[in-house]
Amino acid sequence: MSLATVRPDGAGAQRQVPGGAGLTQGRGVSPERQRAVAEVLHGLVRPRAGRLSPAQLRSVTLGIAGRGELWADLVVHDPDVRWYLPLHRSDACDVWLLAWERGQDTDWHDHGGSSGSFAVAEGSLAEQYRAASGRRLGRRMLDTGAAVSFGPAHVHNVEHGGGGPATSIHAYSPPLMAMTYYRPTGFGLIATVTMAIDGPEGDRGRGGADTALARATASVAGLSSDALPADAPGIDELMAEARSGLARLRPEAAFAALTDGAVLVDIRPLEQRIVEGEVPGAIVIGRNVLEWRLDPRSEARIPALARADARIVVMCSQGYASSLAAATLRRIGLREATDLDGGFQAWKAASLPTRPAESLR
Ligand SMILES: [Fe+2]
Repeated sequence: MSLATVRPDGAGAQRQVPGGAGLTQGRGVSPERQRAVAEVLHGLVRPRAGRLSPAQLRSVTLGIAGRGELWADLVVHDPDVRWYLPLHRSDACDVWLLAWERGQDTDWHDHGGSSGSFAVAEGSLAEQYRAASGRRLGRRMLDTGAAVSFGPAHVHNVEHGGGGPATSIHAYSPPLMAMTYYRPTGFGLIATVTMAIDGPEGDRGRGGADTALARATASVAGLSSDALPADAPGIDELMAEARSGLARLRPEAAFAALTDGAVLVDIRPLEQRIVEGEVPGAIVIGRNVLEWRLDPRSEARIPALARADARIVVMCSQGYASSLAAATLRRIGLREATDLDGGFQAWKAASLPTRPAESLR
């Protein structure tokens, strides 16, 4: 799907397609076809607004999959990229047409709190999924005519099931707004990145200005920045202000400082340390307790570190959240506090010492 990356510890929005196989959006669906899809859908499920149940979504995907005249002439099978087309979107649900070639898969993901279903319209798919108990993973083969449905907690990886090209119909309720991708690790599935699903792109794909999606997007656009207080700084301003007071350290300079008495404080969450690795000797202090551990006046302080002259170097993943944290530490009196420019990722890229988080086991 058309996706924009949102990294909580990163540089903001950037384009990224999850997985190695790529993903591309098909061309537009005619208004007549959109109406035909909507008519079939409204005949399958009620209510037309509000959250649809997994069982209702299953009847949608099976119902659309069984009516090849709605989608068969639109499918494009591309061995290089996974292909998709949004067929329908209303306040209640969205429906997508996806094509699969051998070797293509989605990577592990959830559906941002939406319930969903998919039905195999041609060929076969395989679904790996996280069992309700948590760490255990299951796998099932789905041949033509099969469908699965799931609630908002479902996490899965869907892949081509072998044989010839496959086609599937997917439906989500409420419509997909975000997806989080996961990496399988020895600790179970770890969330790595959350993607916001884009709105309609001109008259491509979702049929232009006169669709429910266009109306929904227009109403979201009404919640624009002019609703903010005039003197509220944006995140870019906040970041510039934070960094104006910091002598930030590149990884090599930070490494030298560490050998000279400075302390590296890792504020990344556990999930990120598991996925990315750790720096030997770094002190792990969660961002949510950082000020309480390092304020010399706090009862919850770490005495050896909570000092006005402590040489704290804050590290996050990419060096954004760490700037805000270091500026806050300076504000509460730790005048030597600074942060690692580029974060853990720059440290690792500079071939400085790291270790896998698994070594803590
Ligand atoms: Fe999915």
